[in-house]
Amino acid sequence: MGFLRTRFPLSLNISFHARFCEQIRRNYRKSSRYFSSGQTEPFFVTTPIFYVNAEPHIGHMYTAVIADSSARFHRLIGNSVTFSTGTDEHGLKIQQAALHANEEPGRFCDHVSGLFKTALKNCEISYTDYIRTTESRHKENVHSFWEILSEKGYIYKGKYEGWYCTADEAFVAEDQTMLVKLPNGQEQRVSTESNRPVEWFSEENYLFELSKLREKLRHWLKSGPVIRPLRHYNLVKSWLDQELIDLSISRPSARLSWGIPVPGDSSQTIYVWLDALLNYMTVAKHSQSEMNIWPPSVHVIGKDILKFHSIYWPAFLLAAGLEPPKSLLVHGHWLVDDQKMSKTTGNVVSPQSCINLVTATGLRYFLMHEGVPASDGNFSMKRMVRIANSDLADGIGNLVSRCCGKSLNPLQTRLGVSPSSFESCGTPGSDLLSLLERTPDIVHDEYQKWNFYKGIDQVMALVRGANGFFQTMEPWKLKKEGQLDQLNATMAVTLETARVVGTLLQPIVPSYSGRLLDKLGVPQENRSWDFARLRWTTTETALGSQQAVLFPRIKFD
Ligand code: MSP
Repeated sequence: MGFLRTRFPLSLNISFHARFCEQIRRNYRKSSRYFSSGQTEPFFVTTPIFYVNAEPHIGHMYTAVIADSSARFHRLIGNSVTFSTGTDEHGLKIQQAALHANEEPGRFCDHVSGLFKTALKNCEISYTDYIRTTESRHKENVHSFWEILSEKGYIYKGKYEGWYCTADEAFVAEDQTMLVKLPNGQEQRVSTESNRPVEWFSEENYLFELSKLREKLRHWLKSGPVIRPLRHYNLVKSWLDQELIDLSISRPSARLSWGIPVPGDSSQTIYVWLDALLNYMTVAKHSQSEMNIWPPSVHVIGKDILKFHSIYWPAFLLAAGLEPPKSLLVHGHWLVDDQKMSKTTGNVVSPQSCINLVTATGLRYFLMHEGVPASDGNFSMKRMVRIANSDLADGIGNLVSRCCGKSLNPLQTRLGVSPSSFESCGTPGSDLLSLLERTPDIVHDEYQKWNFYKGIDQVMALVRGANGFFQTMEPWKLKKEGQLDQLNATMAVTLETARVVGTLLQPIVPSYSGRLLDKLGVPQENRSWDFARLRWTTTETALGSQQAVLFPRIKFD
């Protein structure tokens, strides 16, 4: 393997970093007081920042929707949420993409970053900070962080020789590469992991003493289930059992000009991953929160960027004397017809094409219902339409239109429920009651563990239970026979279940749940997680005047 290093020491100032640490301590004192009142906790969730070399696709939106559902869930349970996303705009890959598009890099980044912002908005992503690595607040942070690493003796200048994969912006060890035959008969060396081309670099740059941090990284890993799912935790553990090679953290500016210069040495540009990972810290430094939000509660990431987040990122932080993230949630990738999405294959699915077909609600529901973090998912428009139709239009839609329809609910009200409402409905009533009592806690636990698909399954089981109950009670017959008490009880119990369903689904499909709760006349202040469980009340509520169709069925051949 061609890795060669020689050392030259460096020394720089640390005042910016010191101010950040002091801010953390000050905020911590404030937040400790706040915690004792039992009111709220800080929750800091992030998406990776997206490369601007290509337009948004559904894989990017998957990361964003997981983070968004998590953010929305934590708001509902009363936490103070900071939720960041944004764009990763430096590095060779972007420099080349801009050149290819025949645009000045700054303008090129403005344009594509704008596309991501729009895509996130159209997917109803409720971020609190959108960070771009070309912003001056970020450059300041990267500089001060570099200085602290240097001050603490983790940076040295040396010679770097090895393979580099520009598409992944990653250094690749020789045994992680292989030769492949191109269609034109020539041979090309590629990264075994990503199958993308690598090039040989031999140059002088700055290196980070990653090798010094193995024990600290192990300690972090042992501190709890910091990486989920477990498979990825074990993978990181095994990486730490192998040799940790010092990391090159700069490139000569002559080769890479589009980036942040090394402080005090403009002949070198900072490695794009060090630059990019620090976005999380820039956000924290500029947070509006009254509380200490460091360390991040969770970084949501795809499996391809696990090493950067589980080794490099915590190592940088530990070297600087800062706490590493509390957890990483690693998800699989979306494939299309069992193939990786790529421009060359021409199978990239744009989020907007899905939104045009099934709305943001349909896309979000599909991604969260079908996406299992531990494995890859296979995307299909047909399946997306089928699931949106069957759960949102039929399952929940029917439940709502049945109990809000004028024929069975002429007064357009939601009656309060009491234990006797369920009792008077016999066994179907007590079965639904026990389901209704169990479901919110299970959903809470699943959402908290980012098992959104399991939480949704529980909600849908409740919906099926309520539809089955309605069918068995035959309220149309009760009306005909004049059994008004039982009719009222049936309607009240079904409407209460629909209210709970709407409340529980808010993190997943916010606008759909909003329409559902509006229809049921639920005031905004009664939509937090405290209201996600069954509530006994004698109060009658007027239904909203909106139409009861929440999600029109979609035709797709
Ligand atoms: N810029 C880096 C991240 C830096 S974070 C400090 C990057 N950007 S990316 O645009 O390539 O990817 C952003 C996220 O999208 C990653 O979490 C990645 O795993 C995810 N996805 C990219 N393709 C994907 C799929 N096909 N399916 C699901 N997620 C995918 O990496």
